[in-house]
Amino acid sequence: MDSNGDGVGDLAGITSRLDYLQSLGVTAIWISPIYPSPMADFGYDVSDYTGIHPLFGTLEDFDRLVAEASRRNLRVILDYVPNHTSDQHPWFVESISSRENPRRDWYIWRDAKPDGGAPNNWLSHFGGSGWEWDEATNQYYYHAFLKEQPDLNWRNPEVVEAMMNVLRFWLDRGVDGFRVDVMLELIKDAELRDNPPDPRYRDGRGRPYRQLLPLHSADQLEVHEVVRKMRGVLDEYGERVLIGELYIEMDRLMMYYGEDGPECHMPFNFSLVLMRWDARRIAALVDQYEGALPAGAWPNWVLGNHDVPRIAARAGRAQVAVAAMLLLTLRGTPTMYCGDELGMEAVAVPDEAIQDPVGINLGPGFSRDPSRTPMQWDSGPVAGFSTGQPWLPLSADHENANVAMQSEDPDSPLSLYRRLIALRQSEPALMVGSYAGMPAEGDIIAYVREGGGKRFFIVLNLGADDVSFDLPQGSGLGSVVVSTDVDREGTDVFEALEVRGNEGLVIALS
Ligand code: GLC
Repeated sequence: MDSNGDGVGDLAGITSRLDYLQSLGVTAIWISPIYPSPMADFGYDVSDYTGIHPLFGTLEDFDRLVAEASRRNLRVILDYVPNHTSDQHPWFVESISSRENPRRDWYIWRDAKPDGGAPNNWLSHFGGSGWEWDEATNQYYYHAFLKEQPDLNWRNPEVVEAMMNVLRFWLDRGVDGFRVDVMLELIKDAELRDNPPDPRYRDGRGRPYRQLLPLHSADQLEVHEVVRKMRGVLDEYGERVLIGELYIEMDRLMMYYGEDGPECHMPFNFSLVLMRWDARRIAALVDQYEGALPAGAWPNWVLGNHDVPRIAARAGRAQVAVAAMLLLTLRGTPTMYCGDELGMEAVAVPDEAIQDPVGINLGPGFSRDPSRTPMQWDSGPVAGFSTGQPWLPLSADHENANVAMQSEDPDSPLSLYRRLIALRQSEPALMVGSYAGMPAEGDIIAYVREGGGKRFFIVLNLGADDVSFDLPQGSGLGSVVVSTDVDREGTDVFEALEVRGNEGLVIALS
């Protein structure tokens, strides 16, 4: 939400919409980076970790947001971007100034190979080599993302100290936790060995980054020590949350809960974001995830974020409601992406209007802009997002798909989200109860959540055809508490249940 008409969302804008967030029922918000930044990667290139970019407001606006959120029992989680700074950050400006500068070793500098080539074969996520040559000081520096995002050297204790103080700065200001950007890559192989080729990579498919397995550039064992330190700082402040952005195989992901002491409360579980929308695969994956969790670890599920295509684009428009029900009835903390509660779609952004550096470097097909378009508040001009020209185009359907209209319609995605969140918040069975997968075939996913003396049976149809399905044996009568088809709510069901195409049901069992 843009409060000052410059076309970009800002802190005062968020504050003005806290009542909406409260009415939606969410209990915490994660805000993508709001720090001073040249915006080469939309704030993920930070030039001052303890300030606010004027585009987004001031520290006073931030304090007001935290105070207003806390009045509504809403937690505020910041994006912490520790892997790299902006090349305009004073630390890097010093580091690049000379080899003798005390901050030289705050970043990763290496000599060229004898043939003048880069120190190793590591690739940038955003295209090309991960190394950039600095003519003036005759060395390369490493950047896992853009060359404007040099990687910090987390093997240097001064960097660790400085970055822990950044956490303290925001914790002192009252934030409730952090989503840690690119947690996986903070520590690199001490010898910077070459990454091996990935035999699964096929030319022209996916990002060129995928040519190599990031064996030595990511997920090094020593990173866990760093994460334990971050957690230690958070724990000094009591109830705070540490969330890790970790795109990684499930068994490795689990290590970020912490094996030698607490690490993340929530290592982000991106399986739903990455997989094909297929009932058998999802059902198997939920079982696999539940089975892989270490003792005492709390699960979490992510349905969308600013880096991936929207759920309406991944699963299809017809599945938006079913996806919401899956996210909000699985066991574990759900993370949803703003606008997904309206079923917002991937918005076509003309090539010449592309903002995302990934889309510019790798091609429009890789652009993240279609998921980042303005939130659709009402049917007014610019969907109520701004009084000016928005930084990205609006979706063509904003006149129908918006908060104001969907609030009036009990059959809308937004109304369904509200009912599901309210149910989840009020029923211990859904919030903290057990999960048991039920046998199912074809397009059906079914499971039972149990706790607080209650049992809920959830059945989801990921296909377009009606299917009949039996309630778990011996359940007798059930009652539909929430359905993707609001007319079905409050009705009783007996042993054999008709599940319509693209339908999901939460059924209270007697
Ligand atoms: C994370 C962010 C993404 C950003 C990248 C580099 O993946 O979610 O938006 O481009 O890190 O900081």
